[in-house]
Amino acid sequence: MSQRLDGKSALITGSARGIGRAFAEAYVREGATVAIADINLERAEETAREIGPQAYAVPLDVTRQESIDAAIRMVEDKTGGLDILINNAALFDLAPIVEITRESYDRLFSINVAGSLFMLQAAAKSMISRGKGGKIINMASQAGRRGEALVAVYCATKAAIISLTQSAGLDLIKHGINVNAIAPGVVDGEHWDGVDALFARHENRPLGEKKKLVGEAVPYGRMGQPQDLTGMAIFLASDEAEYIVAQTYNVDGGNWMS
Ligand SMILES: NC(=O)c1ccc[n+]([C@@H]2O[C@H](COP(=O)([O-])OP(=O)(O)OC[C@H]3O[C@@H](n4cnc5c(N)ncnc54)[C@H](O)[C@@H]3O)[C@@H](O)[C@H]2O)c1
Repeated sequence: MSQRLDGKSALITGSARGIGRAFAEAYVREGATVAIADINLERAEETAREIGPQAYAVPLDVTRQESIDAAIRMVEDKTGGLDILINNAALFDLAPIVEITRESYDRLFSINVAGSLFMLQAAAKSMISRGKGGKIINMASQAGRRGEALVAVYCATKAAIISLTQSAGLDLIKHGINVNAIAPGVVDGEHWDGVDALFARHENRPLGEKKKLVGEAVPYGRMGQPQDLTGMAIFLASDEAEYIVAQTYNVDGGNWMS
């Protein structure tokens, strides 16, 4: 089978580990060159080294505009222009409504929402000035489809991502830029180890129990692995997705239907 992203230049935020790393590996297999853009530069460098010469590390803090602009410039200088952005970096937190702090709210909204919007904006400006269109994929979540008692802020950030995907998708398609999103369910990895520890504290459970329960509740029969999401990420970045605009796709083993 021919490579579906041959010669494309991609930037994936938060790809030093987890789902973003799996996306980077898959994109490289499909022929793309990938910027591993992460706030953890050391880990990004290690990841890029492990993936191989088509991956390179880029320092990025999505909460800082000058960092966003510098990351886009680095990609332009290295590859001649940006074809694909995945807005993947995000933080999770958990608290009952009466315990939510402004600090947690500000942190999550500045990374998950403002970070994604201003990355998307900088990528769109770069793509528009080059005149070749592009593909932008935002990472939403099943958490954006409905609220959860202890997860108000994170759920709200992911609902915002679904909404931003719609508005940006409608605005940017005239420039040949497709904006779509992926809504995973529960995906195993270091992120969910942290989520499990927070649930253990707030729901008074032993470590590992929440993770086991959410996995068993997935209609498919287990938690997702990052590799379960790569097919959708490749498809949405490929020429085959040209007519897909402003959509959010659930890739969650059947957890949510919409
Ligand atoms: N794991 C899941 O169960 C799950 C489910 C639904 C949606 N998602 C979404 O998928 C995406 C990836 O999730 P994951 O599980 O791989 O997360 P993760 O926590 O493993 O990885 C997040 C990465 O983002 C980086 N990062 C954090 N702050 C940053 C910043 N300010 N600037 C740049 N990079 C920053 C981190 O260093 C890390 O490498 C996220 O958007 C997440 O909300 C995950």
